[in-house]
Amino acid sequence: MSNSLIQGSYIIAGLAFILALAGLSKHHTAKRGTVFGMVGMGIALVFTILGTVLAVQQQLDLDVPGVEAGTVLTTAAAPSWAVIAIVVPMAVGALLGIVLAVRVEMTGMPELIALLHSFVGLTAVLVGWVSYLEPGHVGDKLHYGELFAGVFIGAVTFTGSIIAYLKLSAKMKSAPLALPKHNLINLGAVVAFLAVTVWFVILPEDQHLGGGGDATLGLVLLSVMTLIALLLGLHLVAAIGGGDMPVVVSMLNSYSGWAAAAAGFTLENDLLIITGALVGSSGAYLSYIMCKAMNRSFISVIMGGFGSDGQVVGEAKDYGEHREVMAPEVADLLKEASSVIIAPGYGMAVAQAQNAVADLTGKLRARGVEVRFAIHPVAGRLPGHMNVLLAEAKVPYDIVFEMDEINEDFPSTDVVLVIGANDTVNPAALDDPTSPIAGMPVLHVWEAGQVIIFKRSMATGYAGVQNPLFFNENSAMLFGDAKDRVEDIIHNL
Ligand code: TAP
Repeated sequence: MSNSLIQGSYIIAGLAFILALAGLSKHHTAKRGTVFGMVGMGIALVFTILGTVLAVQQQLDLDVPGVEAGTVLTTAAAPSWAVIAIVVPMAVGALLGIVLAVRVEMTGMPELIALLHSFVGLTAVLVGWVSYLEPGHVGDKLHYGELFAGVFIGAVTFTGSIIAYLKLSAKMKSAPLALPKHNLINLGAVVAFLAVTVWFVILPEDQHLGGGGDATLGLVLLSVMTLIALLLGLHLVAAIGGGDMPVVVSMLNSYSGWAAAAAGFTLENDLLIITGALVGSSGAYLSYIMCKAMNRSFISVIMGGFGSDGQVVGEAKDYGEHREVMAPEVADLLKEASSVIIAPGYGMAVAQAQNAVADLTGKLRARGVEVRFAIHPVAGRLPGHMNVLLAEAKVPYDIVFEMDEINEDFPSTDVVLVIGANDTVNPAALDDPTSPIAGMPVLHVWEAGQVIIFKRSMATGYAGVQNPLFFNENSAMLFGDAKDRVEDIIHNL
C-alpha cells in the first residue's frame, strides 16, 4: 500500500464528513448525513491503521518493543506490534463506546457528549506531551508553537467538558459560579499562556528535551502552561449558568474540534487537521446560532460569562394560586377547539410520551382540529431533541414549526398543550430582568385562549426558576406523567 493511496482515502473521508455535515442540517437528510459520517469514519480508521502498519514496516528508527532501534522490521513482525499497539486499545475503546451508547437514555445524551468531548481534549494534551517527550522536532519553533496551542486547547476542553458533564448530570450545582473579578482571572490566564508560550518557543535549543542540555526549564514551562489551561477550563464552564448549558455544550464541541486539529498538526496527520477544523468551525457556527436564538452574546459565552456580573439570581415570588384540571375536562376542551398548538419540552422526553402525543395529534386532526407543534431551539437537553422524538413518532414535518415561525400565532389559537416544557415557556424571561433566563426568547403560549400544562408537580425546570405561567387565569395544570395523561385524554376523546 502506498502513501498516495492513504492520502487519497483521507480526501474521500474528508469529503464524506463534509457531506455528513450538509446532511445533518435538515430533518429529511439527517439519516443520510449520519451514514456519510459513519462511512467517512470507517475509511479514516481503516486507512489510518493500515498507514500506521505501513509506517512500522518502513520504520527505521522507531522504538518498537523488543526490536533494536534502527532495525527494518519484517512484514511479519510489524503487524504483530501494530496489533498490540493499535488494535487492542481500539477494541477496548470501541467496546466501552458500544456499552455506553447502548445504555445511555436519550435524555442523558448531552452529558455523554460532554464526557466524550473531554476525551478528545485529554487526547490532544497527551499527544502534545508525547510529541515533546519523544523529540523528533528539536529546535523546530513552529512545532513548539503548535504543540503549546494543542495542549492549551485540549486541556481547556478536558476540564471544561468534565464540569459540563457534572452540571448536566446534576452531580454539580448548575448555578453559575462567579469568583470575584472572574473576567480578570480569565484574561490573566490567557495572558499568562501567551507569555509562557513565547518563553518556551524562544528557549535555546539545549534547554529543550533532546537538545543535549538541561531540559528542566522546558518541562517546567510545558507543565505550568498545562496547569493554567486545566484551571481555565474549570473556571470558564463553572461560570456559566444552567440555562446557557446548551451553548456551552456546542462551544466545547467546537473546542474539541480545534484540539483535534492541533493534534493533527503535531502528528502531521492531514485527516485529523481537516476533521478537527470541520468539527471546530461547525461547532462554532452552531454555538453562534444558539446564542442568537437565546439572545446571548457569543463572545460572552465563549469567554465563560465574560461581561456578565454573575449576580443574576431568580427571586422566589408569590404568584398566587394555580388551577388544576383532569384529563376528561381537557378532552372536552379539545373537542370544542378548532386550533391547538403543542409545545413539547424535556418532560415529554422523560415520559417517552412522543408516540402518545402523535396518536393524540392524529385523533384531533381526524376530527378537523388544526394541530401544530411549536419547537423552542433549546427545548429538551440537546439541539434538535424534540424534532428527533417527533420524527421517531412519525409526526409529519409540515406541522412542526420553529419558535420564530409560530410565536405570532398563539393569540389566534384556542388551546395550547404544554407537554413537559417549563423554562422554554416561562414569561419571566421577558418580564423579569433579575431572572437567570432573562432575555432568552420563549414561546408565547400564554397568549392563547387556554393553556394546559402537563407536569408531575409544581417543581421548577432546568434553570431552577419559578414559572408565573402556571398561575395565569387561562392556565391549568394537568398533573401526572405526561404519557399517562395524554393516553387518558385519548381515552376520553
Ligand atoms: P425544563 O425547563 O427542563 O422543564 C421540564 C419539565 O418537565 C419540568 O418542569 C418537569 O416538571 C417536567 N417533567 C419531567 N418529567 C416529566 C414527566 N415524566 N411527565 C411530565 N412532566 C415531566 O424543559 P424545557 O422547557 O424543555 O427547557 C429546557 C431547559 O434545558 C432549558 O433551560 C435549556 O436551556 C436547558 N438545556 C437545554 C439543552 C438543549 S441543547 N436543548 C441542553 C442542556 C440544557 P415535574 O418535575 O414537575 O414533572
